[in-house]
Amino acid sequence: MSDNKLAVVILAAGQGTRMKSDRAKVLHELGGRPLVSYPVELAEKLRAEPIVVVVGHRAAEVERAVRARSGDRIRFAQQKEQKGTGHAVMQALGALAGFDGRVLVLSGDVPFLSLETARAALGLARKRSRAVVLVSMLPKDPTGYGRIRRDEAGEVLGIVEHKDATEEERRLHEVNAGIYVFEAAFLRSALQILKNDNAQGEYYLTDLVQGARAAGLGVGAVVAADPIEVEGVNHRVQLAELERHQRARILYELMLSGVTVIDPATTYVSRDSKIERDTVLEPGVHIKGATRIGAGCHVSVGSVLEDATLAAGVTVLPYSLIEKAKVRSGARIGPFARLRPETEVFEDAHVGNFVELKKTKLGRGAKANHLAYVGDAKVGAGTNIGAGTITCNYDGFGKYLTDLGEGVFVGSNATLVAPLKVGKAAYVAAGSTVTENVPADALVFGRAKQVVKKGRASILRQEAKKKAEASKKKK
Ligand code: UD1
Ligand code: CA
Repeated sequence: MSDNKLAVVILAAGQGTRMKSDRAKVLHELGGRPLVSYPVELAEKLRAEPIVVVVGHRAAEVERAVRARSGDRIRFAQQKEQKGTGHAVMQALGALAGFDGRVLVLSGDVPFLSLETARAALGLARKRSRAVVLVSMLPKDPTGYGRIRRDEAGEVLGIVEHKDATEEERRLHEVNAGIYVFEAAFLRSALQILKNDNAQGEYYLTDLVQGARAAGLGVGAVVAADPIEVEGVNHRVQLAELERHQRARILYELMLSGVTVIDPATTYVSRDSKIERDTVLEPGVHIKGATRIGAGCHVSVGSVLEDATLAAGVTVLPYSLIEKAKVRSGARIGPFARLRPETEVFEDAHVGNFVELKKTKLGRGAKANHLAYVGDAKVGAGTNIGAGTITCNYDGFGKYLTDLGEGVFVGSNATLVAPLKVGKAAYVAAGSTVTENVPADALVFGRAKQVVKKGRASILRQEAKKKAEASKKKK
């Protein structure tokens, strides 16, 4: 047996009947990511090799979701029919062929197992050379769980499932969390002789515990410090409870690290986001994905940031949406602004209300303060984009670039038809439709010349009045 080798098997084949869902249970999201990603991440942190996910119900979708996050490092084992947790591990044995270390078995629906508890179980398995170490817990209500039976000396005897337990056994409070460390050789031989003669007609992985004990092999247990660590998701009420717990914990740690959260009850921050000190989050802010926010930023009411990167000292005014975009320090976004993917707003630039930027670099100190769409554009430093400006970047087939130099002034309601280049310090007259490149320092008009006819307003009015009266008489 090799003491340092570790494999992880994650059980994720079950349907999760109580979720009442068309989706696989392990694909339901907690903190914006699928449940199964939590044990996978733990296995990765433990540097396990191989990591095997047992899939069955909606296997292709589960595989796809795991691959999307972890790439090709993960192996999959198919469990076509769900005949119990022991049967699920049997399906993983192929992927473990030749492996002679320890196998940590995790549940796909138990997201919060800590690295410390997993390490404690592994440590105990190593120290005393136990064939099986399980993780147990003491929940408020043990109903439904497998109960841990111990002898007078306190040594683990085995596990009895709730459905198979006697009245007396049901009064036992210590329960099985469904997380185990097995010696690979023991696992292989014990699964070979596993039977399904129980209340559910399933192959119980839990039977391996009494099997080890009966064979005179060492069995150990580690009690999880916090019951939340080993709580599983069986229905959507539990899912919401874990969500609330995780959210509270993230905000608690953020606040202790120096971030002001004005109203923790309405603020959402993902586990993968990082926020630095003296940043303020106002009520109703959602920080999603892997967002990075520097020090001293202010994110106002109702703003949503997803995979966004904010440098230090950025101000986001109310109700702005920033998605996969970068904002450099001193910039001001919003209110009601939308930054779409691949946008970068440089130092001290301003993006105001009802402005949408897509795949656009807005230069240092540049401004788009009101009602504009700027897409596939490069905007030079200090350039001003007037209200109502539109870049026409799309002709129904391809997308084209608008390149505005430094210090350009784009007057209100300009229509910039890409591909287009406007040179440094040029001036685009308000209301212009610009279709051809503009050299530096030029003034461009792209609108009809103004015509003034003196005294014609009152004549027009009289004519209109007569026309209206004539049409009334006809009726
Ligand atoms: C299991 C344990 C129980 C423990 C509880 C902790 C057994 C027999 N019982 O019960 O002692 O207290 O977990 O939460 O193991 N799965 C498969 N294939 C199957 C069956 C299950 O992949 O054929 C997966 C499920 O998707 C799930 C995990 O194994 O991720 C646990 O299965 P579940 O049916 O929820 O087990 P419990 O009845 O809760
Ligand atoms: Ca369960």
